[in-house]
Amino acid sequence: MNYIQPSIIFDEINVFNNISYEKALDMSLFFKTNDYLLINDVLTQEIKEYLKQKITFDQHNYINEKRQFFREHNDDSCSCLISRFITTIKPFYEYVLQIQLTNPVGFGMKYNENSDCKPHYDNYNMPISSTICFYNEDKISYPFYIDNAFFNNPHPFRLTVDDKNGIPEENKRKIDINDGDIGIFRGRNHLHWREKKYVKDYRAILIHTEDYTYNGKLVSYMSNNNATKANINNVKNILTYALTDLDSYDTFRSDYVMYFSNN
Ligand SMILES: [Fe+2]
Repeated sequence: MNYIQPSIIFDEINVFNNISYEKALDMSLFFKTNDYLLINDVLTQEIKEYLKQKITFDQHNYINEKRQFFREHNDDSCSCLISRFITTIKPFYEYVLQIQLTNPVGFGMKYNENSDCKPHYDNYNMPISSTICFYNEDKISYPFYIDNAFFNNPHPFRLTVDDKNGIPEENKRKIDINDGDIGIFRGRNHLHWREKKYVKDYRAILIHTEDYTYNGKLVSYMSNNNATKANINNVKNILTYALTDLDSYDTFRSDYVMYFSNN
């Protein structure tokens, strides 16, 4: 593992502020214990401005999609840049988590007043997720939450539990990801969501990466072309159907009890 912060330069711009090895070690231990991590003010001003300029949302992709929680996805023309960016910054994640990771996938996301990110668990090829906020127009506090309860999602795809109020208060971990901050979490194991708020314009890059190992070696579902890929169309009409929705946290916990740890 890296003992020195890797120098990450993207299109001649320094991406991250300095984090000492001691600090990185503390962060990695925190993540190991809590399954999430917030790194405040870690993006340089220059990269925030560059991303704001380069990642556009003029096509309003998915803006009216309930399944996408009414968030806008980046324009198609920016996908290459985003892909290049997240590949470039992977060593930074390995430094602060002290975990070897596969090449991430990701996209730009713009939240607005209609966005409503419901509590959900991520797909099976996304054990670790991250939100990199690079712009927050009115500097509003727009908290992201995770449920402390550990869960093994038996479904391959997203599982939504649309019951923010049913989640016990003591389980909620509030993670205030403002512009320049990075939040990292195990979205496969912890329910996560956003507070519904009046948000003028909040932009982030969302990334997903893997730390699955086999015989001590990192294995990747996402970048292995030989892996048998689950096909949404093949699992229709059975319990594993993609994007399962439930609407009561208590019922969910009692029905899925064998998939929770005892917290
Ligand atoms: Fe998610």
